[in-house]
Amino acid sequence: MTTFPYWVAGKPVTSDETVVVRHSFDGSEAGSHHAPSTSDIEAAVQAAHDVQDEFATLPAHVRAGALDHVSRVLGERSEEIAQLITAESGKPLKWARGEVGRAASTFRWAAEEARRFSGDLQRLDTDPGGTGRLALVRRVPKGPVLGITPFNFPLNLVAHKVAPAIAVGAPIVLKPAPATPLTALLLGEILAETQLPAGSWSILPVSNEESAKLVADPRLPVVSFTGSVPVGWSIRDSVPRKHVALELGGNAAVLVCPDWTDLDFAAQRIATFAMYQAGQSCISVQRVYAHADVYDELQAKVLEQVRALGTGNPRTDGVDVGPLINTDAASRVESWITAAVEAGGELLTGGKRDGATVEPTVLANVPEDASVMADEVFGPVVSITRVDSVEDGVRRINDSRFGLQAGVFTRDLPTAFDVSAKLRVGGVLVGDVPSFRADQMPYGGVKDSGVGREGPASAMADFTEERVTVLTGLTL
Ligand code: SIN
Repeated sequence: MTTFPYWVAGKPVTSDETVVVRHSFDGSEAGSHHAPSTSDIEAAVQAAHDVQDEFATLPAHVRAGALDHVSRVLGERSEEIAQLITAESGKPLKWARGEVGRAASTFRWAAEEARRFSGDLQRLDTDPGGTGRLALVRRVPKGPVLGITPFNFPLNLVAHKVAPAIAVGAPIVLKPAPATPLTALLLGEILAETQLPAGSWSILPVSNEESAKLVADPRLPVVSFTGSVPVGWSIRDSVPRKHVALELGGNAAVLVCPDWTDLDFAAQRIATFAMYQAGQSCISVQRVYAHADVYDELQAKVLEQVRALGTGNPRTDGVDVGPLINTDAASRVESWITAAVEAGGELLTGGKRDGATVEPTVLANVPEDASVMADEVFGPVVSITRVDSVEDGVRRINDSRFGLQAGVFTRDLPTAFDVSAKLRVGGVLVGDVPSFRADQMPYGGVKDSGVGREGPASAMADFTEERVTVLTGLTL
């Protein structure tokens, strides 16, 4: 088993203390890592602070070249990395392989965006006082970034912090999730093969408690956090003068409209993306609102599709649904299912737990205030509800403290426009489930789901601010 070093200012570092990471399906060792010492954490932050001017002015071709290198090597080492993602997260191999491909694309997009990140010209001779003047409006880094990432995408959500920071020349200190730090540490090996300056990146697998000190550190003026709702908002409240981007949870919903005829397709997408990664995605399908005209047929088809999913050891090819991240998470999900049934919901399939694994579960007619509807399940559970009109479906989707993404199955263009105008979410998928994400898309939520947008171009804008240079005495 590999014991991974952590990375301080681009260099691998070991310490006397190591931490073992275990596979949630059978408790086997996935690997281990050295635990950063206090002095090394300090060195990483100071190095990020010290290199910021040099990094911000590094030629675009060096930053883009480094990002392209990472993208290429992720492709070359994809199977090894997918195996590591599965070992530490319990995510089935097929989804781990998909994640590596997505991360390669995230780095590739960041490289492309770095090459076109040029700024704008603004003419100022629109009033007599501005005659002969021209403004150059460029974006410059706000300063070093603290990236904090969750366990559910140990590589690609790391990529969504690291790649845009490098693309704009903002040093980044990354704190990966304690449950799944190994893939981020392996990414360090690939970053270390580039010509990026020392200090421009560090990867510190510190505990959640220690990360509070990093959040408070004034040398890291930007915090980009993906993770749980309470932690995210408490970070933002604790450092009101910092720039804090939050990508938090959701209870993503699908509306199936009466005009939608391909119920096989809708059911297959709902079943797959309610259960993929055992529901541990912020945009997995949690609530389905189906119009009464299609409800019965859709419910039967969803059940058939869910029952056909392969469950078990995530290392085995053909397994669709593996364990949750740990037994505590699975127990919580199990208790939420029990509470939903006690509140009057109907259990159509699933509901049982074995260790960290929860059976793919379908519920119907669950009261809207039950946790499986109102909170974020982050487990393989979907609830189906009959609605009498499209308006009723939109109202129920919006009647939530979350607003990340939503899906609407309709082929009717006016309905699609009307619904997407009315849904209070960060993204609407027409003709699909809310779980679709192309990595170049702006991605993020409203309400409790967060603030700010990811996707390389969006995060690059987020990590930077406008700087105006006024040129004078020009013939325009
Ligand atoms: C998330 O869980 O927020 C990320 C979803 C994705 O990237 O597909």
